[in-house]
Amino acid sequence: QLRAGRSRTVAIVVLDVSNPFFTDVVRGAEGVVESAGGMLIVCNSGEDPVREQRHLDMLEEQRVQGLLITPVADGAHPRLDRFVERGIPVVLVDRGAGQTSRCSVAVDDVLGGRLAAAHLLERGHRRIAFVGGPMAIRQVAERHRGTGEALEGSGAALTLLPTGSLSINGGRKAAAELAAMPAGTRPTAVFCANDLLALGVLQEVIAQGLRVPDDVAIVGYDDIEFAAAAAVPLSSVRQPRELLGRTAAQLLEEEVAVPDRHEHRHAVFQPELVVRRSSAVT
Ligand code: RIB
Repeated sequence: QLRAGRSRTVAIVVLDVSNPFFTDVVRGAEGVVESAGGMLIVCNSGEDPVREQRHLDMLEEQRVQGLLITPVADGAHPRLDRFVERGIPVVLVDRGAGQTSRCSVAVDDVLGGRLAAAHLLERGHRRIAFVGGPMAIRQVAERHRGTGEALEGSGAALTLLPTGSLSINGGRKAAAELAAMPAGTRPTAVFCANDLLALGVLQEVIAQGLRVPDDVAIVGYDDIEFAAAAAVPLSSVRQPRELLGRTAAQLLEEEVAVPDRHEHRHAVFQPELVVRRSSAVT
């Protein structure tokens, strides 16, 4: 049910509309919003806090019923606090379990990193690269942390290949760096913080004449539809994307139904590793 005196819309602000991860989250959320008689507005922050701020200003004027958001930056977010103070409930998507003043849905990204690294260890890799976007994005930092935890005491070397953004181009740049390393010291496996990075790594290592998985094994994260359809089907840590979107919209419905609620729910889902040819046994 929707609250009277407001527009019949719910807004979702996603980090990057070109990332199919968010397309699936949106699909899950809109099903719930539309069955309640509302409509979902999708805004794209493009990982840019200034754009995010502009969207939030416009959405506050539009008097939306509620807001779903994957914030660009982590931690305290005074702009979102103002939404809550004005009686517009906010649910954090894909992060934010630490934020007590709002509901959130997320995946256990530390476990996700552990699953990927344990798989590569089990495949015999001892020189592993982590290709991640800005560490300011909590998911990247937590996937990296999980990788480090799984490799602890294994004797495996972890090389960090940072990229400016969680994009295919970011993956290509990291892979060019990797391919330039001497074969004797080059990592034999790459774990990427999301599938767009993994697709970029895959494309570039092949362009550089390396074989996947024989020279370089690759594991991504999200398991978007393109992972299985890649030139070498990608292993990936699967996130339940539509379920994340559905659950976020359901939590928001509960917040709309009972305003000024003091306890908030934090749903955390488990990722699972899907193994395909890009990290198969060579
Ligand atoms: O938004 C960047 C990444 O974080 C997405 O690819 C997805 O993995 C999300 O959790």
